[in-house]
Amino acid sequence: MANENVLVIDDELVLCELLNDLLKDRGYSVKYALSGRNGINTFKGGGFDLVMLDLKMPDMDGINVLEEIKGFDPDSAVIIMTGYPSFETVRAALRGGAYDYVTKPFNIEEISFVIKRAVDFRNLSLTNKSLMKELEEQNNKLEEMVKERTRELILLYRIGKDMSSSLKLDEVLEIVVDNMSKIMDSEICSILLLDKNTEELSIGYAQGLEENIVRQTRMRKGDPISGWVVEHGEPLLVDDIETDPRFMKKNQEKYYTKSLISVPLLVKDEVIGVININNKRTKTPFTKDDLRFAKGVATEAAIAIENARLFTSLEDSYMRTVLALTSAIDAKDHYTKSHSEHVSKYAVGTAMELGLSDKQIEDIKEACRLHDLGKIGVPDDILTKTDKLTANEWDQIKLHSLKSAEILRPLIFLGDVIDIVEQHHERYDGAGYPHGLRGEQIHMGARILAVCDSFDAMTTDRPYRKALSQDEAVAEIKKCSGSQFDPKVVEAFLRLLEKNPEIAKN
Ligand SMILES: [Fe+2]
Ligand SMILES: [Fe+2]
Repeated sequence: MANENVLVIDDELVLCELLNDLLKDRGYSVKYALSGRNGINTFKGGGFDLVMLDLKMPDMDGINVLEEIKGFDPDSAVIIMTGYPSFETVRAALRGGAYDYVTKPFNIEEISFVIKRAVDFRNLSLTNKSLMKELEEQNNKLEEMVKERTRELILLYRIGKDMSSSLKLDEVLEIVVDNMSKIMDSEICSILLLDKNTEELSIGYAQGLEENIVRQTRMRKGDPISGWVVEHGEPLLVDDIETDPRFMKKNQEKYYTKSLISVPLLVKDEVIGVININNKRTKTPFTKDDLRFAKGVATEAAIAIENARLFTSLEDSYMRTVLALTSAIDAKDHYTKSHSEHVSKYAVGTAMELGLSDKQIEDIKEACRLHDLGKIGVPDDILTKTDKLTANEWDQIKLHSLKSAEILRPLIFLGDVIDIVEQHHERYDGAGYPHGLRGEQIHMGARILAVCDSFDAMTTDRPYRKALSQDEAVAEIKKCSGSQFDPKVVEAFLRLLEKNPEIAKN
């Protein structure tokens, strides 16, 4: 049985009562109004599934009543009743949103059928509408989620790029922690690395922690939080550590924590460390979304850390090879070993006289050790030749500074050392090799090395000539000041010799 509410709007009381009787028998609840205005007001009172509307009423035209009803509720189902259906009025009614029309006097079967169809249509359209609304809401949510994920992915991509911009482990750790704490808006963020041999975790870099905690903190597999994450290889999200049954009273970490995220750094399923993010600045707990994002950052971070470690170990082994090469040259040409040591002593002293920084002095020292490395490519018979060298032989010797630099080039950490090595035979007046650089174009370290290198070469016995005395060598250096050598460097070098006469060998 139907239980829809029907509103009949008609100025004929008899007709209203007739419809009331007929429809009640079929299970409808019926109300009626005897004028257009009254009908509109009753309808606005609400709760009607269907309106039966007379087209001709004394107070209002039915089309206007229809307009108001439809304006109030566009989903209302209205059936027009008319005694004189003209094409124009029917068209106007249907255009105005009427569902159908019936002609007076009624055939009860016909009217029942039209009402049922109108009610069904309305119900269907309402259901459809609510489904559409739901679908739209779902779509909006989905769209929002896609936008959010896209934002996250773009951010992750940027962070990943930022992290891989350096191959130095210390820098990578700093970039990881900076990014993570900025995005998570955390008070404390730390990255702990696992020592494979001792199975201990120590803090590689942290923000918001006291220096002594960073230095002293050591944790083991299975310890609360970080140790748990290492042991299980899974992330942790803790709303409130004081009430979390997993860690309550077990919180041994030496800093105050309420809400935290701890994510493992995984490289091929192996945990290499942990990132801990503690306390949001907003004082709200971390969410599952935060955890998902932290996991994303940790994935990128693990790759960057692993790359930096691989690169460092590659650099280490390359550097060992380079040092083995320098030993090989020392064996080839006995002069070079003591030569490098002497040059280093003079160069460091001269650099100090010139007031260079510790870093610059360190670079110069390293360059002295490596500057003649490229001689490994010069045949022994040329290196040890006692007769005058031919032009061709000279050309081969002259290649050594460039060769030294080429061998060192992959060792990015050497930085300026490589330039100093490459330029140690450049001349202040631009007549040197390999590039003919002049004046300030030449690295300060290389200008220093040039003076000290020549001084040591002159004061050492060589296969092709005896050593000059110190005075003779000093005179030669002075003579070449401004042409071969930078006058400032020469002055500093001479001051060094004056202050430390014992520094020279003879
Ligand atoms: Fe050299
Ligand atoms: Fe040299």
